[in-house]
Amino acid sequence: MDRIAITGGARLNGTIPVSGAKNSAIKLMAASLLTDEPLRLTNMPRLADTRFLGKLLSRLGVSVTESDGVDGQETVLHAPEITSGFAPYDLVRQMRASFNVLGPLVARSGQAKVSLPGGCTIGARPVDLHLQALEALGAKIDLHEGYVYAQAPRGLRGAEITFPFVSVGATEHAMLAAVLADGTTVIHNAACEPELVDLQECLNAMGAKVQGAGTPTVTITGVARLKGASHAVIPDRIEMGTYAVAAAMAGGEVRLTNARPGLIDSLLVKLEEAGAGVEHTADGCIIRRNGDRLNAVDIETQPFPGFATDLQAQFMALMTTANGESRIRETIFENRFMHAPELMRLGADISVSGGEARVRGVAQLEGAEVMATDLRASVSLVIAGLVARGETTVSRIYHLDRGFERLEEKLGACGAQVRRIASDGEQEL
Ligand code: UD1
Repeated sequence: MDRIAITGGARLNGTIPVSGAKNSAIKLMAASLLTDEPLRLTNMPRLADTRFLGKLLSRLGVSVTESDGVDGQETVLHAPEITSGFAPYDLVRQMRASFNVLGPLVARSGQAKVSLPGGCTIGARPVDLHLQALEALGAKIDLHEGYVYAQAPRGLRGAEITFPFVSVGATEHAMLAAVLADGTTVIHNAACEPELVDLQECLNAMGAKVQGAGTPTVTITGVARLKGASHAVIPDRIEMGTYAVAAAMAGGEVRLTNARPGLIDSLLVKLEEAGAGVEHTADGCIIRRNGDRLNAVDIETQPFPGFATDLQAQFMALMTTANGESRIRETIFENRFMHAPELMRLGADISVSGGEARVRGVAQLEGAEVMATDLRASVSLVIAGLVARGETTVSRIYHLDRGFERLEEKLGACGAQVRRIASDGEQEL
């Protein structure tokens, strides 16, 4: 299995273009199931997760064609007909968001059999709210042997859906199903993440009538059919935030481009509070830090526009060498501190109690062999490795490849000493 080796100590100077958002791209890809015309997605990231979903969609009858067009990396998805409504455990298990094919399959062809995703390392992550939304829309749901059987032979119908708490995935799932329902659907207590706005824009370009995404109330007036469209995937705010933290950690000056202002303000405020220089630009930001040590600051993860849980691990890595004690509260997932013991292998001083971690900054981390436990945790170890003395080797980087496009190349272009060690040898990048 591939590993990543980082030799700490280099400052970062240069420009990093932000890729299209993984978390948006995979929901937009699922939207291709809703029409018999081609959906063209540009600004597409090339990641293990988009490949997984492409594989699953192909089994369902979608042709998936990747190319480098005039608008950069694009994927055209075309489902003239749904040839199968079956999403097997093997494919859903590998990427939870594959579960979101259920709603579009039922909406378009009246039935589906989709594996339950199961738990994952950051928490139980049930899908009860997804199923509650589909049932409200009139789908008959049965659970047997780890599979969801959903049926709506006469189509879905509009409904009032009130989520008891905010769920990104369930809100997206409800939107994906309701666009073809008969009548109007109102989703209350909807998630407000920018990826939902992106989904709304794409669905509307396909002829749907969705409004309110980005606010707690989303209204969808169902239409009889959707058509093909072309849509550019929103920039990846988590990737952008990750490199912002990496720059603040290593020092130097990094310009993040191809992004949008306002996507990671809750992070940038904290970086400034810690002592990093932050300059907003038209298509991203510039992060600067001279040699001074950062100050410890506290964070608490919250749904958007609060501090993103997907940036918590990276921020914890940043705080390991800050001056003072930082309190990090995780409120979205119940088990999202798996990176703490790995950071401690690098010499970090962290204690975890329930949903709170206390990070007491140390003057210097030491390189070591560490293991990635999940997608965002893996990149926090790379960030720590940027300043650790000597070499840090991160194993199980398939987690990293799920969500970060050309990470070694992007960091390497700014001067970081990062290389991928392939299982059958070593490749300098
Ligand atoms: C999405 C993102 C993930 C991010 C998370 C929170 C994708 C592919 N993933 O995940 O990167 O960390 O939003 O911003 O977009 N829950 C239930 N029942 C449900 C659904 C969710 O109890 O039916 C719980 C979850 O276990 C979790 C919380 O709700 O504790 C929020 O989860 P949710 O917002 O749904 O996250 P995902 O959509 O899975």
